This record gives sequence, structure tokens and C-alpha cells, in this order.
Amino acid sequence: MADSRLSSRALVNLLGEWRNAGPVYRGLADAVRVLCLDRRIAPGTALPAERDLAARLHLSRTTVAAAYRDLRESGHVSSLRGSGTVVRGGGPIADPPGTADETTIDLHRASPAAWPGLGSLFVEAAAQSGQWVGHSGYDMVGSIELRTAIASRYTARGLPTDPDQIVVTTGAQSAIALVTDVIVRRGDRVAIETPTYPHAADALRDAAARLVAIPVDSEHGWDLERADHVLRRAAPSLAYLMPDFQNPTGASMDDQTRRFLAESAAEAGAVVIADETTADLDIDRPFATRPFGAGADPAVQHNIVTVGSLSKSVWGGLRIGWIRADLDLVPRLVAARPRRELGTPELEQQVAILAFHRLPEILRQRGELLRLGRDTLVSALSDALPEWTVPHPHGGVAAWVGLGAPVSSPLALAVRARGLILSSGPRFGVDGGHERHLRLPFTAPPAQLERAVQMLAEAWPEARDRGRPVTEAVLDAVV
Ligand SMILES: Cc1ncc(COP(=O)(O)O)c(C=O)c1O
Repeated sequence: MADSRLSSRALVNLLGEWRNAGPVYRGLADAVRVLCLDRRIAPGTALPAERDLAARLHLSRTTVAAAYRDLRESGHVSSLRGSGTVVRGGGPIADPPGTADETTIDLHRASPAAWPGLGSLFVEAAAQSGQWVGHSGYDMVGSIELRTAIASRYTARGLPTDPDQIVVTTGAQSAIALVTDVIVRRGDRVAIETPTYPHAADALRDAAARLVAIPVDSEHGWDLERADHVLRRAAPSLAYLMPDFQNPTGASMDDQTRRFLAESAAEAGAVVIADETTADLDIDRPFATRPFGAGADPAVQHNIVTVGSLSKSVWGGLRIGWIRADLDLVPRLVAARPRRELGTPELEQQVAILAFHRLPEILRQRGELLRLGRDTLVSALSDALPEWTVPHPHGGVAAWVGLGAPVSSPLALAVRARGLILSSGPRFGVDGGHERHLRLPFTAPPAQLERAVQMLAEAWPEARDRGRPVTEAVLDAVV
């Protein structure tokens, strides 16, 4: 049985501009394939009946049937008796079949390998296990030692913080989901950057929030006019923002932008989630920053909930993140937690305490690693694909590259066939679009990044031609 069914209207919304210069059935199949690969259609979802989709797209049923057949042959969907055409499961590495080997480069995640000294911290923490294995181990708030380390760092960076304002979570994603649980009611509007971090958008959609987009780009940063409009007119209950090295654009807010957004959100009565997961990933940022909301009036600070994590600075596998919130909100967060999970593991918390003691050294190593990745990627792209617009991010995990044409999905498909796994631009969108952009993480080793750029350059002519608008292709054929 299918888990859920996608209506033809919902699929057409997701498809966006899918027609390209190739055969119509193939263009449709390619567009659905990218939606499956990017997990914008969940495994187990039934696609609309051929007849319904054909009617909505003004196509013949034979064309839709041919597209579904193509998807079946590539292994992305299967036919289930009683359910119709259903999207198949399998991780991104298993898709398409046959690419999961050591020659595959997986850049759909932007996460560096662990800080090299992490193993020794695990050994040190395990040696001290006698001190904490006597507890029940169900820790909903976080150890006082770790909360003190986190709070002291906020205080040192200009945002005085009491350890009781901190809740330790299993990574920033759990933190975002928990705050969403407590703040967002079904049907609430939520202001969110576009492009954005997709799993945060998914968590908000799961809470039945209506997302209202604030555009941000690598060159100009946040569209404050639009932000002002969204915050005043849409009356969102929550605004989800990434102030530093925004994922995926790499943009960082200057002081004026921070102040404007914090004050506008407070005036609108919106709680701000300031997701600072990527904030420590400085390479060469031209200005120093303080945590979001530092120096603001208490009434403005009251509305700001900060989310942090050691996932990018130390290791994603540690699964240690946290929430910094007003003292009033903390008990509500702790009370809402048990229905989704029963605490943060002890060993990892002990490792995190040791990592906090060595944070300056760790961040120096991360900065060097990211600089090497960024410089390698930017220089390889400038050499191999000079027609692309390649930003020079001052930190973070990825470059949001402009392709100059709406071909991100065909390009993601074409490189996948060569063994390079990337998410297409629209995966980061809130309201469709972003077909002209591709997120390229620079967290992988330099040799992999160079090989990835080589694959992109090889696939580029095919993707660019596939993505050309139909009219242009027809005109070319005539003259
Ligand atoms: C902006 C942002 N927020 C949250 C997360 C999730 O982090 P964690 O691994 O701590 O759950 C990520 C991970 O990529 C991220 O980039």
C-alpha cells in the first residue's frame, strides 16, 4: 500500500518549469526523478493517476504513461496493485542503482569529517564513565557542566546567558523541531529565508505551517524590504533565520540587518529561531559578529531563540546541539520533549564538554580545512566553467553557484549518472524556483572537489542543452 497519494495539482506545483528541449515524456520523467532524488516526494508516495495528471498538464495520457514507464525502468517508482505508481525507497547513494561504490562522490550533504582529535576525546570521556553511569541516563535538559560551557561562550561573545537558559538536544535539527512543536500551531504563518536549509523547512511543513519567503542571495544578502512586508503583513508566529554563513548562500548578516530583523520580528510578535549551526565556520569574514540579538533590548531578546550545534565544527555524528531561550520558554520546551525523544546521550555530552575546552584549537583547524576546500572549489570552477557565477563565501559549508540558466535539475541528474550526488537548487526553495542555482559544498577533500568539478564540466553541455526552453530549441532548428 502507498503511504499517501500526491494529487495532480500538488505534483504540478512541485514540478515548476519542467518542459525542456527533449521529448516531452522524458522531460516529465526527469523532473519527477529529481523530485524523488531530492526527497521532495517521499518514498512510499503514490503519484497521481495517469489520466488526472494528463488532464492537468494538457498532455495525452500516452505521454504520461510513457513518463511513468521511464521512471519504472530507472527504478524510481514501481507499480503496486491497488495503489498505482508509487515512489520507491532507498537512500540517495542507492539512487540510481549501481552508483554506490567508492568512485561515487556524495556532495548532497555539506558536512566535514570529524575534527581529527575527536577519537582521543571519546577515549578520555569513556575513561571517566564511572562519574556518570550511576545516573538514569534520561537527560532532557543537558548536563550542568555542558550547559555551563555553552552559556559561558555566549556570555564571552556578548550575549549574557545563564546555564538554565540552555537545553542540550540531539543536534540542531531536534532543536528546530522542538521549538517548532512548542511555538507553531497548525495553519500559522512562518517567515523563512529562501533558499533555506531544507530539513528546517520540512520540520515546519510537518507542523502544518504556511511558509512565507524572505529572499536572500550570496551577493546582496537579505531582502529587507520584503522581510519588512512579510513580518508586518503575514503576522507570522515564527521566523526561521540563519544569520551567519546562511546555508546554502553563505551570506552573513551585518549589524544593521541583524538589528532590523530582530526588531521587526519583535514588533510583529514573531519568535525568531536564529539558527547559528554554521556561525563558527569562519574562513576570512571581513567583520566580527556577536550572537544574534546581542545588545538588543530585553523585549527584543525575549523573542529570540538561538539554536547551536557542534555538528559542523566538531562532527555531525556527535549529535550534540542546543537551544538558548528565555527562562520562561525553557520549561515548555522540556515538557514537550518526551513525546519525540527521551534525552541526549551521556557519553556524547561528556565528549562535547571536552570539545568546548579545546574549541579555539578546533575552530582554527576547521577554518583551515574549509579555506582549502573553498579555494579549491572556487578556483576549479573558475577554470572549468567560466560562464557560471561563483561567489567567494567567507565561511560556512557551501557555495551557491549561479548557472545562468534554469537547468539545476537536469544538471543534478546528468552528474548523478556519472557518480556525483548533488541536490538540485529547488530542494533549497520554499516557493519553487532556484533552478538557476546549485549548492556546491566545499566540505569534501580537495581531490574529490576537483573531480566533482570535472564531472560538472563534462555534464554541463548536455544539461544546458536539455534545459533550453522549447521555443529556443525550435527556433534553432528552423534557422
Ligand atoms: C543551518 C543548519 N541547521 C541545522 C542543521 C542540522 O544540524 P545537526 O546535525 O546539528 O542536527 C544543519 C546541518 O546541515 C544546518 O546546516
